Amino acid sequence: MSVAKTLTVVAVAAAFSAGMYLGASQDVPVNITASSGGASYGGGFKKDAEPVKIAGKSAVIERSTAGQTHVINPGDLIMDAVKLANPGDTIQVMPGSYHETVYIDKDDIRLVGVIKEGKRATLDGQGKLNDAVLYSGNNIVVENLLITKYKGNAIMGQAGNNFEIRNNIIIDTGVYGIFPQLGKNGIVSHNVISGIEDAAIYVGMSDNIQVSHNEVFDSVAGIEIENSRHAIVENNYVHNNTGGILAFITPGLPIKTTFDVIIRNNFVVNNNHVNFGAPGSMVAGIPSGVGVLIMAADEVIVEGNIITGNKTAGIIITDHHSAPNATIDPESDPSPDRVMILDNLMDNNGYDAHDMVKAYMLTQFKQGNPDIVRIGESKDSCIINRHRYVTVGIDHWAQCDFTNTHSVVTYILDEPVAPRVISPQERGEVAYLGICTGCHTYTGRMIGPPMQTIQAMYMNRPQDLADWIAKPTKIRPDYPEMPPQNYLDKETRLAVANYILGLKK
Ligand code: HEC
Repeated sequence: MSVAKTLTVVAVAAAFSAGMYLGASQDVPVNITASSGGASYGGGFKKDAEPVKIAGKSAVIERSTAGQTHVINPGDLIMDAVKLANPGDTIQVMPGSYHETVYIDKDDIRLVGVIKEGKRATLDGQGKLNDAVLYSGNNIVVENLLITKYKGNAIMGQAGNNFEIRNNIIIDTGVYGIFPQLGKNGIVSHNVISGIEDAAIYVGMSDNIQVSHNEVFDSVAGIEIENSRHAIVENNYVHNNTGGILAFITPGLPIKTTFDVIIRNNFVVNNNHVNFGAPGSMVAGIPSGVGVLIMAADEVIVEGNIITGNKTAGIIITDHHSAPNATIDPESDPSPDRVMILDNLMDNNGYDAHDMVKAYMLTQFKQGNPDIVRIGESKDSCIINRHRYVTVGIDHWAQCDFTNTHSVVTYILDEPVAPRVISPQERGEVAYLGICTGCHTYTGRMIGPPMQTIQAMYMNRPQDLADWIAKPTKIRPDYPEMPPQNYLDKETRLAVANYILGLKK
């Protein structure tokens, strides 16, 4: 498998880089020029208009340069610097190998890998550790790292607002690559991610998000916008995944909607990887060969993408009733309404479509290989230039009365949103929303078993539940192992246990 091959190459590179930068001047901070803000290339003509905010480049927050810089060398623990750091500080990690989980529960911290002559600071979980970087603070930056061989997540945000995750290389880090959960106002850009069992980039239960200029490949899902609103996914290169770009609602999560998602100007090419998702998980139900999948999400705009070589279909629009592995949540509208398909280049899709799709096409008197397939209900959706594509199920869609999204530059807000402040009473709830719902829903199987089942098992035994999650053991043969949550303090573990046992939906 090509993932394995890539890994060997990286392992060699990591071994080579380790220990190379232990020279005398190692503790002097490098002068890093910020890649966001500042002057822009003016181009060949004079721009006299007001300065324009450029999508994906705008700073989520004005960062002070007054903080301290902590320099970490191979042999040191990044976590030691996190413990010392105050809000406003930068942690510079020098090239070399590090084997740890970094947990940032403070605001305004910048975790920067120093790249020297192509050598990166490498977080290597050696196939044993679960997570590389977890943050629950606000205004966090994580950049320029190489992260590999973890079992859970490379970078997971747990309820932090105003985040920037960029320029990271992530290879084979388990369930998710970059996973901001329950965050508002954040940017994921210029990352290269491969070999992920669920989603390379998973935006979960978040708002005002920009996902741009990333390369995602050799994963089950490339980019997932899930139970989230006001997201732009643009200028990404999404290839050789099982499914390329997904906008959907997972039923059974505490936040029930996905809407206002713009998927534009991406390359969505040859997403025909065999599905290696955890059995029973939502993504395990994605047929290999899907370019863009819209499930139950509303107001999704697909514009200006190059969608080619996806063997099942270029774009699939479906409801919860028609999706494998989806349970029905009475509080989530199961149908994808107001989907808008503007101009896209689609070619050579659907050449190995599912028998069910072929049979469906026959009933609709359609021939050829499908670019666009709609299954189940979808109200008030529209398309322009439908004649260009082989379609099934959208003949009754209206013609859209607009042709582009140019007026929407970005959904990143002009002002950073207030940091999320968590009162002691909310601790259990926020931990549940920010962490556990990454893998558990209330009613259905996700990565882990449904919370309803867990409630029945642990009724009146919150302390046992709290103890188990600190040191989980392998229980169910048909599920992966759960990652330990021992980075959470005792009180938070008990609070989340109590919260879960009281859940009603
Ligand atoms: C990365 C995915 C993931 C995350 C995050 C996660 N879990 Fe799990 N959880 C699992 C999996 C997978 C299992 C099934 C493990 C098994 O049966 O071997 C599981 C099982 C459980 C169980 C069942 C234990 C038993 O005795 O059968 C409990 C309780 C649980 N999780 C609680 C939590 C809590 C609380 C959180 C949040 C703090 C959480 N989980 C976060 C994946 C996850």
